[in-house]
Order: sequence, then structure tokens, then C-alpha cells
Amino acid sequence: MKTINDIDLNNKTVLVRVDYNVPIKDGKITDNLRIRASLPTLELLRKKGAKKIVLISHLGRPEGKNVDLTLKPIAKELSKLISNVSFVDEIYGSKVTSATQSLPDGGILLLENLRFNDGEEGNSKDFIKSIIDATGAELYIQDGFAVAHRAHASTDAVKNYLPVYAGLLVEKEIKNLEKIIKNPAKPVLLIIGGAKVEDKQPLIEKFLDQADQIVVGGKIAADGYKTDNKKIYVAEDFDENAAGDKLDIGPVSTAKIAGFITDAKTIIWNGLLGYAEDPAYATSSTIVADLIGEKSDSETVICGGDTTGFVENLMEHHKNLSYSLVSTGGGAALEFLLGKELPGIKAIHS
Ligand code: 3PG
Repeated sequence: MKTINDIDLNNKTVLVRVDYNVPIKDGKITDNLRIRASLPTLELLRKKGAKKIVLISHLGRPEGKNVDLTLKPIAKELSKLISNVSFVDEIYGSKVTSATQSLPDGGILLLENLRFNDGEEGNSKDFIKSIIDATGAELYIQDGFAVAHRAHASTDAVKNYLPVYAGLLVEKEIKNLEKIIKNPAKPVLLIIGGAKVEDKQPLIEKFLDQADQIVVGGKIAADGYKTDNKKIYVAEDFDENAAGDKLDIGPVSTAKIAGFITDAKTIIWNGLLGYAEDPAYATSSTIVADLIGEKSDSETVICGGDTTGFVENLMEHHKNLSYSLVSTGGGAALEFLLGKELPGIKAIHS
């Protein structure tokens, strides 16, 4: 896969697909992992002399223009993390052209939400061409790993007009996820939690051969997940509230999982083990996150939005924790792990 490390960027105008589809509550960004994860690429582009850096992203599923889903607050957040960021409330046209032209050397311009135009999800060549024409982009960097499973104008049609290279985030995600699928160090442990069994069952089935041990916790286990496969351990005790709702897995199950973590050399964790939004029921998820993050001899991958948000939050307080990959890709990471081809990644090779 060709990456930004392989190319000459000096004096170039680059179009960078990022995924800044971040959770926002009451106008505030509640988890900026995807924004922080884009910084290494932006810093390297500057270091390699890129002249103008134009960022494109979607936010939510607006179905047409919806001012509540403007990327303006994202630009504000980004400008707290890196210098020289500006925003333009259009996606193409003369306003975008003059905003691009006014950028200082190495300046970053974020365009408005791509999904305000039907052309994005319609994978329209004309739409992406309008963006390229307005910005004068000479090459394209795919760094929006989390949207790489969508065949949209900014992930797929773009390859018809510009050479496509991977950014550092995409490179890191693919490297770590590929390792897990193709050449994992044994024993392999898959920990599954969360609420929707229909979302997780394909992953469990996919890993039945590859994993040495699979753990099922979270609401899926509390709801009575059944299996007679000896490789799968389903949490066996639970912490309950006064009404008898099983809101966290209990100490016996947590201790058992701790043992699996100690033995494993590859760990994939997807889905919280309890209702961790409430600190009273975050005990097992905290213990598991700590144990995985303290392992220095293993490949450790955390995926799924709730799980990564939880782990990121914990890392702020427990500074000793580190993971091989805290994936920014929710659906994209799952599809990749399931062996599906991601259009946004395929475009890099073509
Ligand atoms: C995500 O959050 O999974 C990506 O940003 C893709 O968003 P989508 O599911 O709305 O296409």
C-alpha cells in the first residue's frame, strides 16, 4: 500500500479524506479520538512541505443540508490541537476556491459536511470532481479509515481523478488488523461484549477457527447467550441492580477472563462487558481494560465505538496503559476483521 511516506509532497495541494464523524452531545464533542488520530498525518504533510491541506469529511447522516450537522465545531476542536486551521461552509465552488487560495503555506482548510450533497453517498464522479476543481488538489490521501467500508464519492469515485495514497492512520489500522487476521501470535483471545447479539455473532463465528479462546460478556451474556462450543466462555455471574437487572458481569467471570488475558499473545476486544456508562457497573470493563493495557508482550486491539471511547477515557486517568491499536473504525474495523474488502482501501491499490 502506497503511503504518504512514499511520495514527494513538496509544494503540493493535497485533498485528505478524514473521518470526523464524532459523537456530539448538546453541541459538545464527547469523544475526539478520530480528530486526534488524524494529527500524525497532518503533521507529516506539513513536515514534507505540503503547500495546502484540504480536509474533507462527513458528520452523521444528514440526508441533505442540515445545519445541526455542520463541521464548524469540528474545525474549532481541530484548531485546539493543531495550528492554522480554517473552515469554509461550502463543499465546492468559488467560496472554496478563494478559501483554498488564501491559505498560508501548510495551512489546513476543512470543507463543509460532504453528505450535505447527495453526490457523496451516490458515489458521484461529478461531485468529487467539483471539489478537486475548486481546491486545485493534486493528490488524494485516504486517512478516513472509519468510512473506508463505504463506496462513496470521497472514498471511491475520487480514484478516477487523483492518485490515491494512504495516510498514517489508515496504514496503522490496516497493519494491526491484518496482523490479527493473517498472522496472529498464539494464543488468540477474542472478547465480545455489548448488547446486540446479531451484530457480534458473525465475528464470533469468523474467529471460531482462529481464536484459542472466545469470551462473551455484556448484555449478550446477561440475556442468556447459549453455546455448546468449548472454546467459548460465557460470563457466568452478574452484578444486579435492585430491580434484578444484570448490569455487569460478576467477580467470578471477571477473574476467569483475567486468566485468559494473562495467557494470550493476541487480544481483540469488542463491546463493553457491562453497562459501563454508569460507574457502578464499569468494574469488569475497567479491570479488563487495565489488564489488556498493561500487557507489553502482546498484540492488543480495541474496536467498536463504545469500547474505544471507554478505553480512551480510562487512558487519561491510567497513564500506564497502552494498546497496539485503539481502532477509530466501528463498522469498518468489523468488516475488515470479517474479511470483507473495503472500497476506500481498495482505491489505494488501484
Ligand atoms: C462510522 O461512524 O461508522 C463512519 O463514520 C461511517 O458512518 P456511516 O455508518 O453513517 O456511513
